[in-house]
Amino acid sequence: MPAYVAALPGDGIGPEVMAEALRVLDALGIEHSEHPFGGNAILGSGAPLPEETLDACKEADAVLLGAVGLPELEGRPVRPEQGLLSLRRELGVYANLRPARGEGVDLMIVRELTGGLYYGAKGTRDDGTWFDTCEYTRPEVERIARRAFEIARARGGRLTSVDKVNVMHTSRLWRDVVTELGATEYPDVALDHALVDTFAMTIVTAPETIDVVVTENTFGDILSDIAAAVTGGLGLAGSASLGDGGPGLFEPVHGSAPQIAGQGIANPAGMLRSTALLLRHGLGREADADTLDAAVDAALETAPTPDLGGSASTRDMGDAVLRALG
Ligand code: NAD
Ligand code: IPM
Ligand code: MN
Repeated sequence: MPAYVAALPGDGIGPEVMAEALRVLDALGIEHSEHPFGGNAILGSGAPLPEETLDACKEADAVLLGAVGLPELEGRPVRPEQGLLSLRRELGVYANLRPARGEGVDLMIVRELTGGLYYGAKGTRDDGTWFDTCEYTRPEVERIARRAFEIARARGGRLTSVDKVNVMHTSRLWRDVVTELGATEYPDVALDHALVDTFAMTIVTAPETIDVVVTENTFGDILSDIAAAVTGGLGLAGSASLGDGGPGLFEPVHGSAPQIAGQGIANPAGMLRSTALLLRHGLGREADADTLDAAVDAALETAPTPDLGGSASTRDMGDAVLRALG
């Protein structure tokens, strides 16, 4: 069976950057189909993750996603972002790899993606209190920690686990599990721990000292935007969300950027780097992934978009990438 990718362009700049990724898949002869997801799906059928879309994702070898989010749906009971959380849960992609590369910086954030505050009990009590709860089980922490140790072992051999153990109960579990696993199964990986507030500062002041980071869902969301910012901006950051078997989900770190949507000026690099991660982790096409990463690096030099101080359009950068791909 030839490799097959389910593509979910989404909202805002999602379809604009996705168009460039699909040109790359076409150039590599990889089959794909597009499906409604997010705000456009809500407006079309009432649901952010239509059944047809979920089925197509489950049947695919990998899922490529642009971005979701529409300003007019903010605060509504049914929101585009709920579709994204359901899709991550349904695919079981608990490990979100968010690499950040820049001058002298090469770090990898391994973000837990299917637990914590995002999925804990939430609601409103009769007394008017609104609440979200952060919940983790030992197996949930073990599997993400193990994934991060493996990644650290294959990279620079260093892992920093980030928590808030001075305040949060779930951080006690997090730190104990990571420490135990480090001592028993990964003594060759240099492990240290950091509190999330200080670590946010470290990403800004000394990102070159960081190798691999493992952290829970909410902290990972915030820290990965910071890491993107210190390595050139949100337009550059890609990510891979992986489970244990089954299709992975590949998406840029950025959102639908409504302020610049429709202008054709969004930077497609984060999307194309996500596509390289798809080739590497989703389809096992390492050589193509390396070639695409190099082509994106070259295009960032020759055809920078306005967020990088240049004047190239989304399509111009896509053209430059395709030329560099040869
Ligand atoms: P955002 O990432 O969309 O934008 C933040 C800033 O970065 C804006 O100034 C934007 O113009 C800029 N930016 C982002 N991507 C860019 C690109 N490729 N090229 C150039 N500039 C880029 O975050 P936001 O404004 O906080 O959120 C907008 C919407 O996106 C919200 O509805 C949010 O929920 C959603 N969102 C979705 C995802 C996702 O689908 N994975 C991720 C983050 C936010
Ligand atoms: C991200 C986004 C999502 C998250 C939102 C849109 C649900 O910010 O992928 O980083 O918080 O995970
Ligand atoms: Mn985010």
